[in-house]
Amino acid sequence: MNDGSESIAGQSSERWVLGAGEIEFLWRHLREGVLATDADDWICLCNPSAGRLLGISDSACVGQKLSEVISSPALWRAIEILRRTPPPRPSRPVEIHIDGQSRLLDVTLHEIAPDTSLRIRQVLYILDETESYRLARMKADFVANASHELRTPLATIKVAAETLLESANDAGDSNAPGSGRDHERRFLEVLHKNVLRLEELVRDLLALDSLESARLTVKFKEVFLPQMIGDIARDYTGRLSDKGIRLETDYRLNTFWADRKLLKVALANLIDNAIKFVPSHTGVIRIRSEGYEDQVILKVEDNGPGIPPQDVERVFERFYQVDKARDEGSYAGTGLGLAIVKHAIAAMNGSVVAESTLGVGTTFRILLPQQIEEE
Ligand SMILES: Nc1ncnc2c1ncn2[C@@H]1O[C@H](COP(=O)(O)OP(=O)(O)OP(=O)(O)O)[C@@H](O)[C@H]1O
Ligand SMILES: [Mg+2]
Repeated sequence: MNDGSESIAGQSSERWVLGAGEIEFLWRHLREGVLATDADDWICLCNPSAGRLLGISDSACVGQKLSEVISSPALWRAIEILRRTPPPRPSRPVEIHIDGQSRLLDVTLHEIAPDTSLRIRQVLYILDETESYRLARMKADFVANASHELRTPLATIKVAAETLLESANDAGDSNAPGSGRDHERRFLEVLHKNVLRLEELVRDLLALDSLESARLTVKFKEVFLPQMIGDIARDYTGRLSDKGIRLETDYRLNTFWADRKLLKVALANLIDNAIKFVPSHTGVIRIRSEGYEDQVILKVEDNGPGIPPQDVERVFERFYQVDKARDEGSYAGTGLGLAIVKHAIAAMNGSVVAESTLGVGTTFRILLPQQIEEE
């Protein structure tokens, strides 16, 4: 053990205290690009990875204004959005072009409270995710192709099951409980129910694929939120009243700009989850909206069972379900809803986060930057 180590009281092991040399070594070999700026936006620190990702040397970076070093408009826009986003801030994916090559970066921003003795005020972490995005795209393409191929045979099975079920239901007296026809009818019902679930799964997979596709066209139009929520609530009238759920709204901002179809898909999925998880008769779902600088904040809050802290970030992953047993039988779902929400919001340059307390409830918060009017 060298001089740079110290004993931890009550433990037999010893812990390294990093010396300047070790910190320098780690700093130079971090895969993540790190850029720190002071209160006036001058760059105080820039590691080699950040220099590499931005296409300039790390030593040339230090002492310059951040806006002069960031040459990619997309990256600068992402930084501006991150700066205007209240914490907790999710990271933002950004595509940049360096030396004729496209790179996909994941950018995170951390702010340092002004009352610390540190000179740095903001730290940007930049990860090159080009390869993992490429692999994810390959997997997604495979799933989308398979889903596409499944559509035709599924439609055929569904029509056959529905026709047989209709004739079994029309069979009258020979349908008596315990009879052969009755068994047949029950099996047909199981078949039909599962075909519908498969059809929903394939539909969700294809919806996810089109949300991720570069061909997706996003059209920003004026959205009148009370009307959109009213339309969604109408679609769920049966389930809301069956469970005796109260739907409350608090609109501090009624009108803003978004892609209507994408926003409706996202809000409908969040409301669908809230309905599924709140308790019967005491369930409350609250929809809130407000403006924050040039962003819109939308919240879907519920008083359901909450999501354990270790699962909160993972619920946006495809097929991730916290506890399959907890979900309601006939509305069990497949775990794709929140992945669809995340992609729909990301397509509008926004972000969505979940905040949850076990036993108290869950809030999904959507942030949408406001856009210039489009035809
Ligand atoms: N409002 C909520 N309260 C508690 N848990 C939630 C809530 N929303 C989502 N979850 C958890 O996150 C998981 C993923 O949600 P997601 O919407 O992606 O899938 P799903 O609702 O199970 O199925 P699908 O949306 O495909 O029908 C859920 O299974 C549930 O465990
Ligand atoms: Mg869902």
